[in-house]
Amino acid sequence: MKKPKERMRFRSIVALAPVVLSGCTGVQSMLHSQGPQARSIENVWWLMFWGALLIFSLVMGLTLYAVLHERGQRVPPNAQRLIIAGGVLLPLITLTGLLVYGMVISDPNGWVQEDDPIVVEITGHRWWWEVRYPTSEGNDLPVVTANEVHIPAGKTVLFVVRTADVIHSFWLPNLGGKIDLIPGHTNRLHLRADRPGAFRGQCAEFCGAQHAHMGFWVYAHDPEGYVRWLAERRDAMSENLGAVRSRGRQQFFEQGCAECHTIRGTPARGNVGPDLTHVGSRRFIAAATLRNTLENRARWIRENQSIKPGNGMDDFSFLDPGTAADLAAFLGTLR
Ligand code: CUA
Repeated sequence: MKKPKERMRFRSIVALAPVVLSGCTGVQSMLHSQGPQARSIENVWWLMFWGALLIFSLVMGLTLYAVLHERGQRVPPNAQRLIIAGGVLLPLITLTGLLVYGMVISDPNGWVQEDDPIVVEITGHRWWWEVRYPTSEGNDLPVVTANEVHIPAGKTVLFVVRTADVIHSFWLPNLGGKIDLIPGHTNRLHLRADRPGAFRGQCAEFCGAQHAHMGFWVYAHDPEGYVRWLAERRDAMSENLGAVRSRGRQQFFEQGCAECHTIRGTPARGNVGPDLTHVGSRRFIAAATLRNTLENRARWIRENQSIKPGNGMDDFSFLDPGTAADLAAFLGTLR
């Protein structure tokens, strides 16, 4: 049996692993820019990195010179000239250059030219993301899902962001900078993915106990793949209408799940928790916290308050495992 302290250390290593590993694969890294906005941010980052390295080397060089030479051996510095050059001119030139580069040359929104971007509405909740695709050409029924955003690569996407409660921050480092979700205010952010891929995003503003468990994924498809994805979601909505009356479906209404969740194509119209119309097609549940497997869905239903303590879902630990499994199976059919 491990000692509590050891177990704690082991747990913190396990908890840190995804952070470290995602750094390696670059699915959540501003140093692996995959779009024009992220690229301009990455360029500023590298410019600052090399500039800081140069100045650091210069200071270390001067320090070594001072340490390695006896007082009498050093070239006597002209104090006044040193202060003016190193203390006034150097910072003035460096910082002005950086300011001009940051404000004018590397404008993160300078690339936006498209008039009709794809619009995706994001609403932050404690602690999940509502994702809405309003009607548009090729999408005559709004599609609503949670914690996963599907976009076409090579096309500008306008994220219209709001919050239902406190301040959150939508941050998708591979594609661009952060934008805050502010109560009573709508913010806009243009992003574009150069090529298809999967990127992880994260809430970047402390919003309560489960702030760290407020992640999301963005899937950039090729343009046909994106249209297909939207069409599949619409088809799934009509399939829900004629879905078999399974035990899980019956339990969904008996246990009161429909009070808080919507499943379009059924009488479930709750708007407290995430819309579950397409939950079975998602790769993760609980805001990028658990892989979307049958077992994890059942676990989430019964143990949600120990997996994400304080989250808005009721405690269903009283449910017997069989009912939870039926519910989990039913949710898996909602594509
Ligand atoms: Cu939402 Cu932090």
